[in-house]
Amino acid sequence: MKAAAAEDVKENLFKKVISHAKEYGFVYPSSEIYDGLQAVYDFGPYGVELKNNLKAIWWQSMTRLHENIVGIDSAIFMHPLTWKASGHIDSFNDPMIDNKDSKKRYRADVLLEDHAQALENSGKVSEANALLKTMGKLLENEDLAGLHQLIVDEKIKCPISGTSNWTEVRQFNLMFSTQVGSVAEDTNTIYLRPETAQGIFVNFLNVQKTARMKVPFGIAQIGKAFRNEIVARQFIFRMREFEQMEMQFFIRPGEEMKWFEYWKESRLKWHQVLGIPAEDLRIHAHEKLAHYANAAVDIEYAFPFGNKEVEGIHSRTDFDLKSHQELSRKKLQYFDPEINQNYVPYVVETSVGADRLFLMTLCNALTEEMSGEGENAKMRTYLKLHPALAPVKAAIFPLVKKDGLPEKARTIFDALKFDFNLIYEDTQSIGKRYTRQDLIGTPFCIAVDHQTLEDDTVTIRHRDTTAQERIPIDALKARILAEVSLSNIFSKL
Ligand code: GAP
Repeated sequence: MKAAAAEDVKENLFKKVISHAKEYGFVYPSSEIYDGLQAVYDFGPYGVELKNNLKAIWWQSMTRLHENIVGIDSAIFMHPLTWKASGHIDSFNDPMIDNKDSKKRYRADVLLEDHAQALENSGKVSEANALLKTMGKLLENEDLAGLHQLIVDEKIKCPISGTSNWTEVRQFNLMFSTQVGSVAEDTNTIYLRPETAQGIFVNFLNVQKTARMKVPFGIAQIGKAFRNEIVARQFIFRMREFEQMEMQFFIRPGEEMKWFEYWKESRLKWHQVLGIPAEDLRIHAHEKLAHYANAAVDIEYAFPFGNKEVEGIHSRTDFDLKSHQELSRKKLQYFDPEINQNYVPYVVETSVGADRLFLMTLCNALTEEMSGEGENAKMRTYLKLHPALAPVKAAIFPLVKKDGLPEKARTIFDALKFDFNLIYEDTQSIGKRYTRQDLIGTPFCIAVDHQTLEDDTVTIRHRDTTAQERIPIDALKARILAEVSLSNIFSKL
């Protein structure tokens, strides 16, 4: 009973996160007026600020805190042979099934998901959950025969032919493809990249030479990636279009374990410094290693729907550079002057999804607390975001909309707007204005009252404690900067 109650609380928390994200301008379903597009989302005015802050902190902690890491921005489209070399064409797959009567092709998992949805809609929630669980296990084990059997056992019918005359389940590639060229005869199939890493590998020598890098060195990149995902569930956790922040660290062969440990610790600490409690993070070692890896771990977060991967740290050996070298017939080697040797460097990769990081940050920040006492006690909801991550750093409120207070508040706004993302608001009660800022995680609210006109002081209200203090207008910039500046984070890394 206790466990079931805990599950309910978590499920409710996740529902609250999703509705909060929508209601307060963080995340919207894509093309919502057409009922949305599965597993694709848009970021609203506060969402884009939060995501940009996360990306800026990642970028700067890679490229500024490490003199030997530089960035690039490679194209989404790459030569099709890239994906042959990386192994994505041959082994980046999902299961599919055909109906022999209608000749229609389906994704095996989608058929099962739709069937589970139908069960849920008819009130058979536990049966639906059990079905999804079994499907998840079969997918994890790549048990194609098992998936086929499950479809047969559940008596799932093709919506077109109405029959259960199914083929075996076969693998289906997760990459999206499109055509380059305007006339059909000239077209070439190319892919939307399923990871940003390959743009780094193919530019390894360009960067090493032009930026005069010496091993060990890293190349960082932030960009969109696309996967035709099987289980497109859990809000922005698993999307078909998402953003990755990846860094490939090129090292001497044989030194990979040392660097693997270094990056594992370093990345775990990074998440903690941004406000994620250590007890909600864990390292999960991969039991089954990918064909290119000799060590791999995930950094997992205790999401309301379970411990799930946020970031991967992979020791990728020299697999990618060697494959590109073979297929392109271009040498991708480094001459190491310290040991007087040529070699293909080994790589340790850190790979984090910007959207998953966003979701973790939001789940961690959404706080509900009782505030006030006795009869006045009520629930206060706010986003306890690290001030450096907050979409809006300060809101400026004239207490009333007369007596010269709006004009005074505007001069403060104009003086601070070059340094911080601000909101000016002069409608409704000050209490309602505080509440609105709490809901989007604004760390400071600055109130301009009649005393301000006399002595150039304002009250500054702190989001987490709701405590207020009176400070001179001249001190505002330093006071806000002390908490929201990125150096506040970097000094702890
Ligand atoms: N280059 C290595 C690589 O791509 P991955 O474990 O497949 O490794 C890395 O992906 C990270 O990208 C994941 O830890 C996750 O944060 C993010 N990611 C992967 N697929 C995603 C999806 N469909 N939606 C959102 N984020 C995703």
